[in-house]
Amino acid sequence: MADDLEAVKRRIEELRRLIEYHNYRYYVLDSPEISDAEYDELMRELRELEAAHPEFVTPDSPTQRVGAPPSEAFAPVRHLEPMFSLDNAFTFEELESWVERVTRLLGRAPDAYTCEPKIDGLAVSVVYEDGLLVRGATRGDGITGEDITANVKTIRAIPLRLRTEEPPAVLEVRGEIYMAVSAFEALNREREARGEPPFMNPRNAAAGSVRQKDPRITAARRLSNFMYHLGHVEGGPELHRQSEALAWLRELGFRVNPKNEIVHTVDEIEAYATWAVEHRHDLDYEIDGVVVKVDSFADQERLGYTARAPRWAIAYKLPPEEKTTRLLRIEVNVGRTGVVTPYAVLEPVLIGGVCVTSATLHNEREIHRKDVRPGDWVIVRRAGEVIPEVVGPVLSRRPKGLRRWHMPKRCPFCGSPIVKDERGVRAYCTGGYSCPSRLREWLVYFGSRAAMDIDGLGEKTVVLLMERGLVADPADIFRLRPEDLLGLEGWGPKRVENLMKAIEAAKDRPLWRLLVGLGIDHVGPTVARVLARRYGSIDALMEADEEELAAIEGIGPEIAKSIVEWFADPENRRLIDKLRQVGVRMAEPVEAVEGPSLDGVTLVFTGTLERFTRDEAKEAVEARGGKVSGSVSRRTTALVVGKHPGSKLAKAEALGVPIIDEDTFARLLEAGPGVLDELEGS
Ligand code: IVH
Repeated sequence: MADDLEAVKRRIEELRRLIEYHNYRYYVLDSPEISDAEYDELMRELRELEAAHPEFVTPDSPTQRVGAPPSEAFAPVRHLEPMFSLDNAFTFEELESWVERVTRLLGRAPDAYTCEPKIDGLAVSVVYEDGLLVRGATRGDGITGEDITANVKTIRAIPLRLRTEEPPAVLEVRGEIYMAVSAFEALNREREARGEPPFMNPRNAAAGSVRQKDPRITAARRLSNFMYHLGHVEGGPELHRQSEALAWLRELGFRVNPKNEIVHTVDEIEAYATWAVEHRHDLDYEIDGVVVKVDSFADQERLGYTARAPRWAIAYKLPPEEKTTRLLRIEVNVGRTGVVTPYAVLEPVLIGGVCVTSATLHNEREIHRKDVRPGDWVIVRRAGEVIPEVVGPVLSRRPKGLRRWHMPKRCPFCGSPIVKDERGVRAYCTGGYSCPSRLREWLVYFGSRAAMDIDGLGEKTVVLLMERGLVADPADIFRLRPEDLLGLEGWGPKRVENLMKAIEAAKDRPLWRLLVGLGIDHVGPTVARVLARRYGSIDALMEADEEELAAIEGIGPEIAKSIVEWFADPENRRLIDKLRQVGVRMAEPVEAVEGPSLDGVTLVFTGTLERFTRDEAKEAVEARGGKVSGSVSRRTTALVVGKHPGSKLAKAEALGVPIIDEDTFARLLEAGPGVLDELEGS
């Protein structure tokens, strides 16, 4: 019996090794040795054995790639080392001045550089402990990211276990998760067949897939990965160069881009960049540039970092792509705040592998400034992820008799008059809550992740609810009953229940989310957080006048005016009452802040702190009545210096502003401004 079990265990281990090996051949080396059917057969046998012997299941088993149940949210994780961004060069001259700078700082030219395609995906950090994948995280703000471990595990190009007998104790690797262009096109075909909206581009599709709460969906999205950076390592081999690090990563079972090259001169860097410009569409992944890195780690260390980016690397951005096409007509959209935005309807044109059929035109003044007219040949530009834009007309090809375009007098969706703001730039639909276009956009935004975060309330659902006459403003969402939806096409009991739960949960969101959801012009998450912190409730905010609001740091006159105007509108006041009636939380729970007052203290931060993110540090100071400013001046009480400080340090020294480290900052939070006096005494 024991022998039988031993045999099963051995077979399970053998299957895992085989599957990982073939997985590696397929996803990393791109050179499979067995057919898909044979691979599936191995997986099937392993699944069956594990089902019969759950005691033998281990977290690194290939069956566990889609193991975790759907999660509620992505927990924040602090990176072992900050994830830096890159400085950009847009021209060869800028590339050359980077090389000159590096040469000047080192006192000689670096002996080699690596050139790597800059993949247009999402940065990821993956941590292995004793060879086992334990964590995957997004970049976030560079200090704290989101825990996406369950989703990262579904990506077969990322090993669950390192391919080595002697793994380092800790290994952090960074790279890019992306969706291959072919996978992206297949996904969009499937989505369109199902009547779902297609993704704009592979980057958005990858981002949407990585942020799925259900890893099964991520697994079905066929994401891929290239690794390009060694982060935190404990107990690895001694490495001296980026090129050696890349080779080691490949050995460990990671996918490393085969197009990476080692070069030695500026001319070679430029030849590589030229190759990338010419061949970017021959690759099965999108690139938006080329990353050049000083190869030697010793040189990298000497060059160091600015506050934002390493001095030893630069991203050469590929020029945006332009095409000429016909501007068929100009139409308008009404957005969630009622702003009317014109856009160009174009004769479909392929730009950088994406079929472009429309482009934004911003506003009427822009259209006149560029002098584009319906019927013109126009140059259209698509740069990376941004919405395509009309650069301008090709005047030499303008047909005779084209007329200038003017903003319609009435909203095409509700027939209400369109009015302009004082400067005559922005146009608004005056239909208010009755404009179906505005309402649709508003409700979708209200339920979105940026605002009230109501899972399942997407555009299609909103349209359905509107068509059924079930919602005429955001408060109506909270009045929906299961019987309103049950039995409608696609709305089974489970889906209805999920939506009802999500709506119920949204009643208790923090105040700032509600403020964002109201769709007040200029009030996004940042401003909303400031308002929520300062006023604590909608009622208190409604009392505030323009002058008072404008005096708050980060608000200013334009935002203040927009807030006061919004609350002055009787229709909006009625909405607030209605939201209150249906049980939406209108105030922040009052949290007593522990610790002394920092009233009158103004701090400035530079560099990276170990124990706080910038936001946390700022919140801690403000919660105690202190202020945080972005720049050093004579009024600054102290400069808090973290790792890799920027130019603020020199400025503080020049002005004689006290400089404190993270420990002193922590003591300041605990003990109050007295801590600073002690400092001066010493
Ligand atoms: S190196 C300190 N290499 O570009 C090292 N980044 O604009 C910093 N990226 O956040 C990153 N391909 O998401 C590096 N071969 C490559 C890259 C690459 C794409 C992305 C990465 C980074 C962003 C910076």
